[in-house]
Amino acid sequence: MDVMIIKGGTPLNGSVATSGAKNAALPLLFATLLAEGEHSFLNVPFLKDIDSTELLLNHLNCKTYRDGEQFKVLVKKPESIVAPYDIVRKMRASILCLGPLLARYGEAKVSLPGGCAIGSRPINLHIEPLRQLGAEIEIENGYVIARANKLVGDRIVFDFATVGGTENIMMAASLCQGETILENVAKEPEIVDLAQCLRGMGAKIEGEGSSVITIEGVDELTPANHRVIPDRIEAGTLLIAGAITGGDVKVTNCVPKDIDSLINKLVDCGFSIETGSDWVRVRPCAQWSAVDVDTAPHPGFPTDLQAQFMALMTQAKGTSVITERIFENRFMHVQELARMGANITPKSQVSVVRGEKGGLSSAPVMATDLRASASLILAALATDGETKVSRIYHLDRGYENLEVKLQGLGGQIERCS
Ligand code: EPU
Repeated sequence: MDVMIIKGGTPLNGSVATSGAKNAALPLLFATLLAEGEHSFLNVPFLKDIDSTELLLNHLNCKTYRDGEQFKVLVKKPESIVAPYDIVRKMRASILCLGPLLARYGEAKVSLPGGCAIGSRPINLHIEPLRQLGAEIEIENGYVIARANKLVGDRIVFDFATVGGTENIMMAASLCQGETILENVAKEPEIVDLAQCLRGMGAKIEGEGSSVITIEGVDELTPANHRVIPDRIEAGTLLIAGAITGGDVKVTNCVPKDIDSLINKLVDCGFSIETGSDWVRVRPCAQWSAVDVDTAPHPGFPTDLQAQFMALMTQAKGTSVITERIFENRFMHVQELARMGANITPKSQVSVVRGEKGGLSSAPVMATDLRASASLILAALATDGETKVSRIYHLDRGYENLEVKLQGLGGQIERCS
């Protein structure tokens, strides 16, 4: 199993480009199930979660391959509409094949994803709206079994602005009979990207990026030809990497407005931030102040940057109160940061971080989930010693070559087997 060895203490400097967004690419690849033929995407990142998606699409009779910069999916009618447990358990986003399979082929059998490190993550907000569209859904032997002769549009009000739930229902509703109005939907940039891709496939969608999306169902869609948006969470992580080392880092190929909530917090901390049309630069700051953070659905502060921001707050002047409002168990990095000397008191959904510049020391630590791994690497960059981060396979699910990008900025980080 790979580990990451980080020698901290060097300010990062230079320019680094963001890759394509994992959380945009995953739903886009599942959207291909809505139309037979050859789909083509640009900017699909090289990630373990993309490999898992390919595995599932291959199981569903699709051929996936890279052709230069293009990522192609050749979709054929599946022989079986089953998404098996062995694939789904590796990646919860596999549930996103439910809506497309059901809408296109009238049936789907998708394994329940099972436990997750950061929270219970139920799928009721995927299932209930599909029932409202006319699907018959049973849970049997660990599988969601869904059938529908024809889905029919309806008005659906989500209890919570779920990202995956919104995506699954947008995809299903694109092939529904009649109009579907989705209210209280997620407004994340990944939702907007999916809507734009579906529109390119012939779907009639309006309102993405607002809390109401209207979809007029069509009889069939055509293959996609689409470029995946840049990864705002990776961009934010790289920006925090620059900040925590007191470095001067320009993150390019990103959409600054998609990380406004992070940029605003960094400015509140005292960092000087410059932005251009597709870049953000953080300048060196000798001592930054602690600020409070509450995670929230977009455009609020993303839960996917909470762990990384907490690492930054361990080095701030003062006390920061970090409240996690999306997932009930997303503080597992706290104990590992504490092993490095961080002074953090976690209580239910709130962590109180008492910052101290230079207060971290190196220690062997263990990654517990994707964003926690990034947080530990950032903390390690801020210590003077050598830190070993194990279970780095979590990182590989969602960051493309993070160590190579950090090395390019002068970071001393090596992957070892
Ligand atoms: N929820 C329900 N019922 C549902 C669905 C969600 O109660 O049917 C709850 C969840 O348990 C959670 C909250 O609603 O407490 C938010 O879940 P959401 O559905 O919005 O999240 P997701 O679609 O499962 C995506 C990202 C996550 C990101 C969240 C929130 C993908 C593939 N995953 O998950 O990304 O944290 O939205 O922004 O898009 C990551 O990249 O590290 C990651 C976890």
